[in-house]
Amino acid sequence: MRKEQKAIGVFDSGYGGLTILKELREVLPEYDFLYLGDNARAPYGTRSFDVVYEFTLQAVEYLFAQGCELVILACNTASAKALRSIQQQVLPVKYPNKRVLGVIRPTTEIIGDYSEKGHVGIVATEGTVKSESYLIEIAKYYPNLKVAQQACPIWVPLIENNLHLTEGGRSLIRNDIENLLRTDPELDVILLACTHYPILMEEIKTYLPEGIRLISQGIIVANSLKDYLSRHPEIDKKLSKESVVRYLTTENPSVFSEQGSTFLGVRVRADQVRIEK
Ligand code: DGL
Repeated sequence: MRKEQKAIGVFDSGYGGLTILKELREVLPEYDFLYLGDNARAPYGTRSFDVVYEFTLQAVEYLFAQGCELVILACNTASAKALRSIQQQVLPVKYPNKRVLGVIRPTTEIIGDYSEKGHVGIVATEGTVKSESYLIEIAKYYPNLKVAQQACPIWVPLIENNLHLTEGGRSLIRNDIENLLRTDPELDVILLACTHYPILMEEIKTYLPEGIRLISQGIIVANSLKDYLSRHPEIDKKLSKESVVRYLTTENPSVFSEQGSTFLGVRVRADQVRIEK
């Protein structure tokens, strides 16, 4: 990808953001995308606020340096722990014309519409759950919605290490789902509030009683970005549209292509980069 190409940057701690990228490409096929997975330092979910902020800022600045005018944090943990500080403290001072968007706001704006009973369950990393970002944001749009959260700290490590379909992995995942169902037996919607989790979709469905909808964020985020670009032509006109997609990883690129194919359905070539300063 040439430097003058202004791809949309898509960042995740690892492979999870690929589930968002897949939908972004469906909804915005003409745009260029530059994906960055910080696989060498994933998972972020159990790391402190300070560390997630520091790592996420490094990633965003790296993508800016590659020519991205707009970066999507395709990671709930980074969106919960780093987005606001980057938007409020870093962009106005250092990058006034660039934009960084997350995945939590677009999801919370719409999630209540999926539930008939007004009871929603959230499964997420420990970092996202503890940040209470979902509770705070949902309360703004749906003040009467009952929200039950379940932290699933083991899911991302299982997925990143391709252990989620082992017998042990399955039983850990099932256990977290059963805990959530016990917390609120009334819920009729469960949101996969971590971009890694859509890969578990079919598996989780087998643990759910009838009448519970399982929602993943990719399509919600993609539609929301399309809408954002139509409302912000000044950003849209800066973005290059040649349908080029490039992948960067902080880990070994052959590991990325192997594992990434599970998320994308095709093998992709990645370049290894160092993003820490
Ligand atoms: N995909 C990230 C998210 O949405 C996973 C975080 C992690 O690395 O633990 O939260």
